[in-house]
Amino acid sequence: MTASSAQITRVSVRVPAKVNLELCVGPRRADGFHDLATTFHAVDLFDQVDVTSADEFSLTVTGLGADVVPCDESNLAWRAAQLMATSYGVDGRCAIAIRKAVPVAGGMAGGSADAAATLVACDALWGLGLSRATLEELAAQLGSDVPFALTGGTALGTGRGEKIVPVLATGTYHWLFALTHEGLSTPAVYAECDRLREGHRVPEPSPSDGLLASVRSGDVHGVAVAMHNDLEPAALSLMPRLRALMEFGLEMGALNAMVSGSGPTVAFLMASRKDAVALRNVLAAGDLADDYVLAASTPHGIRLDDVQLRCVLRREPL
Ligand code: C5P
Repeated sequence: MTASSAQITRVSVRVPAKVNLELCVGPRRADGFHDLATTFHAVDLFDQVDVTSADEFSLTVTGLGADVVPCDESNLAWRAAQLMATSYGVDGRCAIAIRKAVPVAGGMAGGSADAAATLVACDALWGLGLSRATLEELAAQLGSDVPFALTGGTALGTGRGEKIVPVLATGTYHWLFALTHEGLSTPAVYAECDRLREGHRVPEPSPSDGLLASVRSGDVHGVAVAMHNDLEPAALSLMPRLRALMEFGLEMGALNAMVSGSGPTVAFLMASRKDAVALRNVLAAGDLADDYVLAASTPHGIRLDDVQLRCVLRREPL
């Protein structure tokens, strides 16, 4: 007699990029990290991560900026799969394929998003059925931005950024992101932030009421006034040419401009997609940045896109 069962052989997950609408950075902690109060906001640039059962472990990356993404264990997605495999005693051989649309090393949490997507995909592929809380714990071990990628939408991050509470958000904001090929190292930007603040009293970080109220009511002009990044002076100090880019964008009609996360991507908040396209066209005629990407807010977070099953036939004793 034979019996059949279904085995998952491939899982596809889509995960959005983020911008920090506000990033308040507290004093350096004893462990080297900084307490944050940050409002994460997902935008509709999605990486896709496919994880397939395989005889060997492998990682491939295609799409935007793929040539500069490492395909070894320094890739956070690789570490995510291995962390889950060792934590749950699973034979972790699988092929991870990442298709990138999120700018690489630009302060938009692309690597963190891929790691979160890998956790969700491996959980399904290996049939672990882990709880949301467990996935968040694994995510926090991988990096400060990874737990937000599991949540998406708009959320407040505290601690070193890993403690996530969703916030009520309405409205759609239009963005133009200006990218530079040259990256900025996140630890270097935090270190520069400490250096610039030496001798100053640094308050504990707290989210501003103005930003949260504007996000709640979907008031783009309120967001433009309240958006703020404490890491921006450090990013500008390490890459002064970003200043001219921001100033030019503001002159050309952006509601506001801000370095995204630890940079060097510059986020221009625009009144409409039409304005975002117009600013892209003006900026693209010059050489203030290397590339431009349009995006809008998305309420979506990580999403299981597709699951491929194989039917397994078993001979059973009569
Ligand atoms: O957590 P993640 O791996 O993304 O952090 C990268 C680096 O950024 C840390 O090693 C630290 O130097 C800096 N960082 C920080 N405070 C945070 C988040 C990151 O100092 N809250």
